[in-house]
Amino acid sequence: MSLEEKLNHLERMRSEARRGGGEKRIEAQHKKGKLTARERIELLVDPNSFEEFDMFVTHRSSDFGLAEHKVLGDGVVTGCAKINGRPVYIFSQDFTVFGGSLSEAHAEKVCKIMKMAMNAGAPIIGLNDSGGARIQEGVVSLGGYADIFLLNTLASGVVPQISAVLGPCAGGAVYSPAITDFVLMTKRTSYMFVTGPNVVKTVTHENVTSEELGGAEVHAGKSGVAHFACENEADTISKLKRLLSYIPQNNCEDPPFAECTDPLDREDEELNHLVPENPNKPYDIKDIINRVVDAGSFMEVHEDFAGNIVVGFARIGGRSIGVIANQPAVLAGVLDINSSTKGARFIRFCDAFNIPLLTFEDVPGFMPGTDQEHGGIIRNGAKLLYAYCEATVPKVTVITRKAYGGAYDVMSSKHVRGDINYAWPTAEIAVMGPKGAAEIIFKKDIAESEDPEAELAQRTDDYREKFANPYSAAARGYVDDIIEPKTTRPRLVRVFEMLETKKDTMPAKKHGNIPL
Ligand code: HXC
Repeated sequence: MSLEEKLNHLERMRSEARRGGGEKRIEAQHKKGKLTARERIELLVDPNSFEEFDMFVTHRSSDFGLAEHKVLGDGVVTGCAKINGRPVYIFSQDFTVFGGSLSEAHAEKVCKIMKMAMNAGAPIIGLNDSGGARIQEGVVSLGGYADIFLLNTLASGVVPQISAVLGPCAGGAVYSPAITDFVLMTKRTSYMFVTGPNVVKTVTHENVTSEELGGAEVHAGKSGVAHFACENEADTISKLKRLLSYIPQNNCEDPPFAECTDPLDREDEELNHLVPENPNKPYDIKDIINRVVDAGSFMEVHEDFAGNIVVGFARIGGRSIGVIANQPAVLAGVLDINSSTKGARFIRFCDAFNIPLLTFEDVPGFMPGTDQEHGGIIRNGAKLLYAYCEATVPKVTVITRKAYGGAYDVMSSKHVRGDINYAWPTAEIAVMGPKGAAEIIFKKDIAESEDPEAELAQRTDDYREKFANPYSAAARGYVDDIIEPKTTRPRLVRVFEMLETKKDTMPAKKHGNIPL
């Protein structure tokens, strides 16, 4: 073969690989409102930055007529690229080839780029669209999945791992995205479940569609498996790119710094008026977050799940931070099982990747009731406490209103290594709410009073006067200062800058034992 013939041969092979499962299947993919594996990569990465590997890999099976059915690439496109100038490693499953199902060779390709990403210290992005284990291959396919799960676990906390689920993701296959740091799903075209509708019907006699069982909205709102439910694939890719912009390349790097055009000394008079005078009235904590952080920089994570806590990324003075905030507008901001695990997981991600934490606190306590107690609020609330205690990144807290009981301790208090703790003058820092406290400590006086209601009201007022303010805490140094709300942004800009050089460590150990 002449050189020219060799080059032509190479080009023919390449275009064969690029065709994947062929025109008809590509058309079927588009008809479902889905892009192909390559179109997704193109949308995701900087132009001409994709370096593809293993284009010529094929499966090695011969059972069930597979020997005659080989497709170059074997159902997954892998390689490295840049997103906004920063390297990432990507695998993108190609549903047009054996339904994107995972063969031994397919798994080897995925594992190869995961190892490359870990060596290079760059994020791993998985674009999942697969019918699961390659049924014709049997146990070698299961082995392939396990190899991926192991690498997901080894990479956890070393390089960021982000999964976009853009089609089916069923059976044990769900556990790869589940181990990764963030899961994005596309509404109507993606689903995740351990057992599909047919098995569910056989076992529990429930009639349920794939969407109802494991669609994007179900996982973003009910199970908490997905962090983002996106409108379509373009929206999914764009959210994924934005998410990356807050995150460092690996656990040894600091998060990227973005130019900040929002004045660092910007005060906001409106902040002085956002917390209602009536302590039982709700307000939206997101108003406060958005007014304090760099304009337009707040990206909420897990928006549809456990709305009584708000978590997300933002920037302050151009620095990436993770924000955790009780949300008085939902269930009065109470901590329950779901909000505790949501908060804990987010804190642990930020801590693993050197992203400082900003906590806004307005929490009446933990949710009472048999549902919560029997569901394990003790075990789950402990996760949030554990996550805050173990976090060694800079931790800044602003108490806007209630900081009651155990929840005061949990929410990044000074006692759990909070670095800077501010309170607004509207803060109420006490063992419990004034009424509940009065009912207990003045039980006898109230019972014996001629007018128990008036007695209770008086005792409640007394207690509020004495304890429902930030001054007892400030007198002990449990808060570092009581600040005028409008000055919150400049104060935070200053302290986060000051904390940039913070160093704190955990005692040497194999790993802790978070109460799972
Ligand atoms: C091999 C598969 C496949 C699979 C789909 N295909 N899934 N080939 N192994 N797992 C092939 C089909 O034969 C078909 O090939 C093409 O992909 C497209 O599939 P369709 O069924 O035509 O597409 P659609 O109607 O969109 O349905 C998609 C689907 C369905 C819902 C994913 O294909 C399906 O139910 N597949 C089986 C899912 C499954 O049970 N997987 C194993 C789960 S257990 P042609 O040539 O016709 O285009 C598992 C365990 C993992 O994954 C354990 C890890 C520990």
